[in-house]
Amino acid sequence: MAAGSAMVDALMARGAAFLGTRHAILAGAMSWVSERHLVAAISEAGGFGVIACGAMEPPRLAEEIAATQALTAKPFGVNLITMHPRLDQLVETCLAAGVSHIVFAGGLPPGGAIRRAKEGGAKVICFAPALALAKKLVRSGADALVIEGSEAGGHIGPVSLNVLAQEILPHIREVPVFVAGGIGRGEAVLAYLEMGAAGAQLGTRFVCATECIAHPNFKRSFLRAAARDAVPSVQLDERFPVIPVRGLQNEGTRRFLQHQADVVRRFHEGTLGKEAAQLEIEHFWAGALRRAVIEGDVEGGSVMAGQSVGMVQREEPAAAIIAELMAQAAAAAARRGDAGR
Ligand SMILES: Cc1cc2nc3c(=O)[nH]c(=O)nc-3n(C[C@H](O)[C@H](O)[C@H](O)COP(=O)(O)O)c2cc1C
Repeated sequence: MAAGSAMVDALMARGAAFLGTRHAILAGAMSWVSERHLVAAISEAGGFGVIACGAMEPPRLAEEIAATQALTAKPFGVNLITMHPRLDQLVETCLAAGVSHIVFAGGLPPGGAIRRAKEGGAKVICFAPALALAKKLVRSGADALVIEGSEAGGHIGPVSLNVLAQEILPHIREVPVFVAGGIGRGEAVLAYLEMGAAGAQLGTRFVCATECIAHPNFKRSFLRAAARDAVPSVQLDERFPVIPVRGLQNEGTRRFLQHQADVVRRFHEGTLGKEAAQLEIEHFWAGALRRAVIEGDVEGGSVMAGQSVGMVQREEPAAAIIAELMAQAAAAAARRGDAGR
């Protein structure tokens, strides 16, 4: 087992050095979920916590960063959504607070934002949805990449991590690449490390951490769900695109289908223009993640979750989750060592 741990540590060395952590395990930012308590608990446990800025305004983000810094002196990151209308100010807020790593999510970040973050002393992490974009992001100055498969919870791309890893890992050696999506156990972390990943990012597995402030109803839904319950949002009509989001099926997802059908009918009747119809579809989920995570409305709200939800089996401290992942990876590595003898 000690030899297994040493193997895992060696495979994680580049990622851990980049993050400044004991282990190359990131807790992916989750809007409303990844706030001071979970982020600090992850970082204190030797992982890398990431604050989800979501729709926060700069002063609110500054407050959250300061509160996290009061709970941990260990490194953590801040996840900024590139569509945020005040992206530049949010970058300045992170830099002023001395945040070491900025994660740009939700689309390709403008080159200026990457440059400014780096000039200000932060390391920049970006999401790469395909090899060509991974190369482009490295050229634009990204210091590390995350490749996230469609198994993940929240907003997703169309390609599984299994395929993205094969497409991207062998070709990007200039910067560390972290893998995300559907990872629930340490054996999988080890397998991706062996394929060339620098570390792994998990979201779903951390929702039921004791320190996570998500409503007990939200955590209970995770504890009860199986992998097949975490499905992508369904688009009813190709003229009205729906951004794919993976979450647990509930009354809200069923009502969303009905809502799309009503909107399309009104569009056909001529009582609703195309643009207004698209907006009505997009507005359906406004505030829905907050309702589920904070208020506990897991029937009407949005219960974003990845396919690894079936591997969430108990509420336990973040440190226990990380220790279990690392022990599973080490045991699997030790078995590899034994087989080689
Ligand atoms: C409830 C929830 C909210 C999320 N919110 C965000 C977000 O605000 N920004 C982001 O980049 N990713 C977000 N994600 C994705 C996670 O950061 C992470 O990459 C993903 O959960 C990894 O896949 P996994 O859930 O299979 O572990 C969210 C995921 C979940 C489950």
